[in-house]
Amino acid sequence: MLAAPPINYLDTLNAVDSAIDANADIADAILDSGLASLGLTATDGDEHAGGDWQGTATKTDVDKARSTLHQLYRDWSSEGSVERSACFTPVLRDLARRLSPSSSQEIDPPRVLVPGAGLGRLVLDLACAGYNAEGNELSYHQLLASSFVLNHTTKANQFPLYPFASSFSNHLRREDQLQKVMIPDVHPASVLNDATVAGKQGSMSMTTGDFNEVYSTPEYGATFDAVTTVFFIDTAPNVLTYIETIKHCLKPGGLWINLGPLLYHFESNKNDDDATTAEDDDNGGDQGRAKQKDRIGTKDGSLQLTHEELLKVVEMTGFVVEEVHEAEVEATTGYVQNPRSMLQNVYKPVRWIAVKV
Ligand SMILES: C[S@@+](CC[C@H](N)C(=O)[O-])C[C@H]1O[C@@H](n2cnc3c(N)ncnc32)[C@H](O)[C@@H]1O
Repeated sequence: MLAAPPINYLDTLNAVDSAIDANADIADAILDSGLASLGLTATDGDEHAGGDWQGTATKTDVDKARSTLHQLYRDWSSEGSVERSACFTPVLRDLARRLSPSSSQEIDPPRVLVPGAGLGRLVLDLACAGYNAEGNELSYHQLLASSFVLNHTTKANQFPLYPFASSFSNHLRREDQLQKVMIPDVHPASVLNDATVAGKQGSMSMTTGDFNEVYSTPEYGATFDAVTTVFFIDTAPNVLTYIETIKHCLKPGGLWINLGPLLYHFESNKNDDDATTAEDDDNGGDQGRAKQKDRIGTKDGSLQLTHEELLKVVEMTGFVVEEVHEAEVEATTGYVQNPRSMLQNVYKPVRWIAVKV
């Protein structure tokens, strides 16, 4: 019955299979560019790892690869612009209002740091707006994917991506599951070049590693004019360490613009391996919140402040909080959310601006 019209379930399975193949093409392209940038080839694993490394991915690796593909939807598809306008645009607007990049060729553009940069879209947008933008990211899945999009894509709309194909739940219609988006919606090198031609002096770079470890070092003391954190500060086991590091690397008078919820990733840390959040599974997976305990801070417990408490601590650490925009209804947003799904995980993120004393 299911194989015949009108259901045609076998056709559905074939279509899902093709969609997964298309997603795998992107994953392969990311892998190829990553291997090439490390001077390796796909067969090098045999001698370097002494075996079949291609079959050694853990379930966590596969989950992260899948959620990285989903994140391409948020950062690099036209359809993802709904989330980007709720999350990145307000930050760009605040920055333009509070720290406008000079149009003079004589003056270096302001340096802006983006910790937890994900797939790098905000970093590119900041560079195009005329800032010297530096992204920082811990996850090598995200780093490989952002490097691929930023440095190795050749044109806009180069690849079809089926962000929601591998989940069969909460679809009203089959075409909702099989939505195709094209990535990247813009060709990063071209838009950056266009911005330069238009007189913007911005630039873009990425650093690898744990934000606290990289940016608490003396070389980063008082180096940035602004730090922008988007859906980031709740990824810390102890947010106080992030606050201290942000203070350390900002210049006196520097701006910290934060936007996001407080979905404390380490809240469910019971020194086991099951700490995932609701959105990890159904709506594409929020990579930053997924199972980081294997990396940092697992032994020392974790801290969950309310927003009100957090702002007090920010002030006690050496900032003046100058603007707070709490959870306006119109500013609600999903995170890698399928807008057509019957399940909608929606955040009411807060946005605030603090100035380092
Ligand atoms: C929820 S995602 C947000 C990504 C991006 N800011 C956005 O809004 O789309 C959080 C990001 O922070 C990264 N991250 C988590 N802990 C980190 C750390 N200690 N240092 C650097 N990056 C980290 C994660 O890998 C993930 O890409």
